[in-house]
Amino acid sequence: MKNFTNKVAFITGASTGIGYALAEALGRAGMRVMLAGINEQNLDAALAKLRSAGITAERVQCDVASRASVQKAADTTIAKFGKVHVVCNNAGVGMGGEIGTIPESDWEWVIRVNLMGVVHGTEIFVPLLAKHGEGGHIVNTSSIAGLLAAPGMEPYAATKFAVVAMSEGWRLQLAPRGIGVSVLCPAFVRTSIGSGHRNRPGGPRPGSAEGAALLNKLVEAGMDPQMLAARVLEAIRDDELYIFTHPELKAAVEGRFNAILAAFDHAAKSPALESHKPQDLSAMMGPPPQQAQAR
Ligand SMILES: NC(=O)c1ccc[n+]([C@@H]2O[C@H](COP(=O)([O-])OP(=O)(O)OC[C@H]3O[C@@H](n4cnc5c(N)ncnc54)[C@H](O)[C@@H]3O)[C@@H](O)[C@H]2O)c1
Repeated sequence: MKNFTNKVAFITGASTGIGYALAEALGRAGMRVMLAGINEQNLDAALAKLRSAGITAERVQCDVASRASVQKAADTTIAKFGKVHVVCNNAGVGMGGEIGTIPESDWEWVIRVNLMGVVHGTEIFVPLLAKHGEGGHIVNTSSIAGLLAAPGMEPYAATKFAVVAMSEGWRLQLAPRGIGVSVLCPAFVRTSIGSGHRNRPGGPRPGSAEGAALLNKLVEAGMDPQMLAARVLEAIRDDELYIFTHPELKAAVEGRFNAILAAFDHAAKSPALESHKPQDLSAMMGPPPQQAQAR
């Protein structure tokens, strides 16, 4: 999508951090923005700030974990603005811990917000993006944890790996409908993600304070969200699939991919697979997702 003027963006987790920075950057580029978020007070504060910067904005309370809530937010967006062109499925929460210590309800919470939140936003908005024929773009916020899993962050990484996988598949499915898909994979960004447990049902998990303090330290030293938002706008304009913001992590990703390739070489020499007859699986896999370009 090359031209943002007067178009409409819907952003989840928009009252703080990365979501707010995206709303501000898209607004400054000429878009009208719908701020969606779970906390009404934060939404009001963000809305006032954007409006005082001359950006046309509205706000809607929305819990991305609930399909009905996202549907209601979509209906409100259409009622206010008539159309939607850019959707940022950005809301997310951090979750980790030592193996065996994370209650199943916490696994379910992080999966509902980080994974199903992206499913809800994409499934509900795709028909609206496709309908007007003016083109559309979806930005799903994953993380560098969607490619590199740090020990102790398995629930978070599992959901962020899923966001990368879904974005790759959806890019291929949606390009012919004129909708681009990007997946945002930042490392640390200066936001309130370290206190994300504020949104956990029942409040912060007992014993999570130490982990949160370490995360806060890393996050405080992280990138300015406005810089990240400028990178995201470049990527929407150029219809890029993967959006990286921390090029210094290329070597770590390369290391993981090299280990995977080496394991294939090892399998190719395996006596156990000696009589394996290779199948042609290219039809099932489709073309590489990065090659798909929205019309
Ligand atoms: N900050 C980082 O270092 C970093 C790095 C990589 C990825 N991310 C990802 O960026 C995204 C935004 O996080 P952030 O860093 O701006 O932190 P943040 O805590 O400032 O923003 C997250 C937002 O999501 C909202 N939210 C939480 N649960 C919700 C729900 N159920 N429904 C709707 N909104 C909900 C929060 O209220 C908050 O406004 C997240 O998906 C996060 O995983 C952040």
